[in-house]
Amino acid sequence: MSTPKTPPSAITAAAVASFDGCPDARLREILQSLTRHLHAFATDVQLTESEWARAVAVLTATGHITDARRQEFILWSDTLGLSMLVDALANPLPPGATESTVLGPFYVPGAPVRPYGANLAEIAAGDPAWVHGRLLDTEGGPIPGAELDVWQNGDDELYAVQNPGAPDDHLRGRFHAREDGSYAFLAVRPVPYTIPSDGPVGAMLEATGRHPWRPAHIHVIARAPGYRTLATHLFDATSPYLESDAVFAVKPSLLREFVAHEAGEPGAPAGVEGRWFSVESDFVLSRAAETHEPADPGRTA
Ligand code: BEZ
Ligand code: FE
Repeated sequence: MSTPKTPPSAITAAAVASFDGCPDARLREILQSLTRHLHAFATDVQLTESEWARAVAVLTATGHITDARRQEFILWSDTLGLSMLVDALANPLPPGATESTVLGPFYVPGAPVRPYGANLAEIAAGDPAWVHGRLLDTEGGPIPGAELDVWQNGDDELYAVQNPGAPDDHLRGRFHAREDGSYAFLAVRPVPYTIPSDGPVGAMLEATGRHPWRPAHIHVIARAPGYRTLATHLFDATSPYLESDAVFAVKPSLLREFVAHEAGEPGAPAGVEGRWFSVESDFVLSRAAETHEPADPGRTA
């Protein structure tokens, strides 16, 4: 009499049960659910041995290309929509609060504190854009002293951290709201750019007929004691790729109009002689207690 074969469901059950004794309840929940979903996925697509080996090679390449300046694992999360899903799960905001979106890999803490209205560009980087607005609470009141940490790419499509020829603090800075909550800085009009596509994620995009472009945007993190930290973007409402952002980060409430101004028009920011743009954007923060979250949860994506 032959011994009966082990059914696939018994393999899954054994792997899930192996975590039954995990003393950390949350870790147990996560690993058991991960195991169930991973097994269901492999069964669903009838994963072959060569496909599994290929996946291991892709993960190995992802590790090899990742270092202090390049984070390919987060890029997988971004391009598979997982970063935005985690962001949505973590940020159930009260009505009126500004929506969050991905942080991205180009944020570098410790940008210089700059005065109201200062220029972000330390070398030529594109058409000047006067960005202004207020930092507010959900009742519409100002948050004096709230910090706005800003970074963006220039018309060469690069962030300073990607560009060995740019000064370290080029196109980034921290600003503090005035007594009435107002802030302003001189940026450049951002341009669309591609996410890093010379690694395994780029190969996936190529193989699947997807593109690596992101629509034009400026990044901000808004912080104030007692308020939930907000990492978001201000998108150019006329940019290409708004409908097909490689990392799924566009939210309609974050689109802003860059208003064109001719050279010599009154109200030009100090030092601006040619054509310029202006864009207005308020940032509304929820109180930490309103979302039952700590005031500064750190990275959002
Ligand atoms: C960014 O906007 O800087 C970004 C976000 C996700 C992946 C790559 C870049
Ligand atoms: Fe970006």
